[in-house]
Amino acid sequence: MTENQSPDKKKIILSGIQPTGVFTLGNYIGAVRNWGKLQDDYQCAYFIANAHAITVRQDATKLRQQTLQALALLLACGVDPQKSLVFIQSHVPAHFELSWVLSCFTQFGELSRMTQFKDKSAKNADNINAGLFTYPALMAADILLYHADLVPVGVDQKQHLELARNVASRFNGLYGDTFTIPDAYIPQVGAKIMSLSEPTKKMSKSDENQNGCIYILDDPDTLMRKFKRAVTDSDACVRYADGKDGINNLMTIYSIATGRTLEQIEAEFSGKGYGDFKLAVGESVVEMLREVRESYTRLIADKAYLEDVYKSGAEKARTISARTLSKVYRKVGFLQ
Ligand code: TRP
Repeated sequence: MTENQSPDKKKIILSGIQPTGVFTLGNYIGAVRNWGKLQDDYQCAYFIANAHAITVRQDATKLRQQTLQALALLLACGVDPQKSLVFIQSHVPAHFELSWVLSCFTQFGELSRMTQFKDKSAKNADNINAGLFTYPALMAADILLYHADLVPVGVDQKQHLELARNVASRFNGLYGDTFTIPDAYIPQVGAKIMSLSEPTKKMSKSDENQNGCIYILDDPDTLMRKFKRAVTDSDACVRYADGKDGINNLMTIYSIATGRTLEQIEAEFSGKGYGDFKLAVGESVVEMLREVRESYTRLIADKAYLEDVYKSGAEKARTISARTLSKVYRKVGFLQ
């Protein structure tokens, strides 16, 4: 990962995930499941964004546990530390150091326009801290340190990526080519998974109705129970159509879990009721997540292995990021 990419070199992909609990089926299908698949075609870097997590209040013991869990989950979902750079953000000081420099090239007005800042400050009115405000500068540092070409992000992070691009261009304009300008990476199947209980809303950890949210470590009984309770409609026909949000969502999930097309699914369930369909969807998800759950159980019990992974990841990440940081320090006029 140097700044001088020859044309036949693999492009660099980088993404981070906050350690705020078990991933949902939505996180899995929309993001993490694809991360493993990208490893052969790209040079990938994936990290646990624990420094971003403390912009809202966290319990220290829980944050430590969740950081290790997030690492085990990433690996269980197919991220291979032999192929990809895998690390924990707080182990790499250059993220904080570059973040300071970049925050001096980021305007107050730009940060004020971030919709996530507005949303989160509305939700945490008693803790609108400076870190919550400057969070996009840290995220820009995460990305720019590794010269990422592509950043897989969901819609909620697009504005932050746009800001990172602007800051990078501004810096390059002032000091000459320093940073690679990152593009958003939009996965081919960008299926958005909706809540099972309120299928017009995105599936989310913060759902009030926890029956609507599937976690990738849910055991088979829990999965089946949640799918059996999934909200449908009174049409009693398995077909993909406007206004059938619940069935559309279940068909999307089933299609991803089985690899079947929507037409094949309609044919498979023609003349059958929603009860049969929901059972089939539940079973397909149990199957899809079986390996993830088994790998996770094995990995989380092996603390020594996890420690090896994050220690060697931190070492590599420190080497790469130190090079970028030193170049930046030189350019802004810090005495070497
Ligand atoms: N902000 C992202 C989120 O909350 C996580 C993140 C931090 C990230 N740094 C990143 C994602 C860099 C992509 C690239 O989901």
